[in-house]
Amino acid sequence: MAATQAYIKGIGAYVPPRALTNFDLEEQLDTSDEWIQQRTGIVKRHWVEGDTSTTDLAVEAVKEALEDAELKKEDIDCIIFATLSPDHDFPGNGCWLQAKMDMGGIPAFDIRQQCTGFIYGLSMADAFIRIGQYKNILLIGAEIHSKGLDRTPEGRNVAVLFGDGAGACVISAREPVEGGGIMAHDLFADGNSAKELWLPAPGTALDPEHRITKKMLDDKLQYPVMNGRQVFMNAVKKMSESLTMTLKKQGKTIDDVDMFFFHQANLRINDKVGEILGIPPEKVFNTIQDYGNTTAATIPLGMRDALKAGKLERGMLVGMAAFGSGFTWGSSLLRF
Ligand SMILES: CC(C)(COP(=O)(O)OP(=O)(O)OC[C@H]1O[C@@H](n2cnc3c(N)ncnc32)[C@H](O)[C@@H]1OP(=O)(O)O)[C@@H](O)C(=O)NCCC(=O)NCCS
Repeated sequence: MAATQAYIKGIGAYVPPRALTNFDLEEQLDTSDEWIQQRTGIVKRHWVEGDTSTTDLAVEAVKEALEDAELKKEDIDCIIFATLSPDHDFPGNGCWLQAKMDMGGIPAFDIRQQCTGFIYGLSMADAFIRIGQYKNILLIGAEIHSKGLDRTPEGRNVAVLFGDGAGACVISAREPVEGGGIMAHDLFADGNSAKELWLPAPGTALDPEHRITKKMLDDKLQYPVMNGRQVFMNAVKKMSESLTMTLKKQGKTIDDVDMFFFHQANLRINDKVGEILGIPPEKVFNTIQDYGNTTAATIPLGMRDALKAGKLERGMLVGMAAFGSGFTWGSSLLRF
């Protein structure tokens, strides 16, 4: 057993107050509540208003996570921020958040693993704690998708799927408890599939001189491009395979796990994963109905809601799996 064990000491989450139902999107996007619900399971999502930024959402989630962990911000010694929708291209959101929270001095870095961001971040936090480098790490997943979507009928296949929100966890060190804490991870990436789900601009690969040009904007290259079917098929396959492998590493089976938190991209993806692995539906905590896909925020947001609903309790064995742009995918197993 490692000399130090990492565990989730506190969780917080936040979504902006404005909720938009599928009906609210019908006119603007030439879509329908029936299409969205049948194909994705989404009923509503939260979108920010005004000049709210991704770190503004994160601040609220962090405050709740610190309170839940019964720690002060001065106790935190590292920030890991997972997002694909940062306040600015650089510096990373870890730095902006740190300034807003007045937590200057501690290391802060961003990771860009899209929908798998939280699982990658959890694995990194776990590794830092196991080697004794940090004691209380703030891991954040936060997104504002609404400002980056093509909200015209042309963009409806992507725009209806995404919501804004933030989740945060405090990952802390403790003396190892047998069979406890964060136990195992499984991380993957396949850059050959990058263009199945990607954001072309701004970027250095498109123009000899500029990262952003008027032509790029006219061509709508600032909006995400997605091959929905490829993403769907791969998500089902890779999430199932990865979770199976992570459980096997720890000598556990599906039946040993008390609650599953999957990335929330499409309710049908999660239903299929559950079907393939033989997971009883009541053991999968889905939130896509209320939030849509909130990318890196999804898993901590779900855990916070499950905790509040009494579905997640201390001592439970928790399985997680996610899949997203990159492609990136992975899974984690932990004793909450
Ligand atoms: C996006 C997704 C819901 C689309 O479902 P689908 O069954 O593959 O649907 P298609 O893209 O084939 O489109 C079917 C029809 O619906 C239409 N359509 C697409 N978006 C629509 C919308 N929001 N409202 C109404 N109609 C829509 C299409 O134009 C198409 O019409 P056509 O048959 O006349 O050409 C599904 O592929 C999916 O969820 N994929 C995974 C996406 C994902 O997980 N993304 C995030 C990764 S982390």
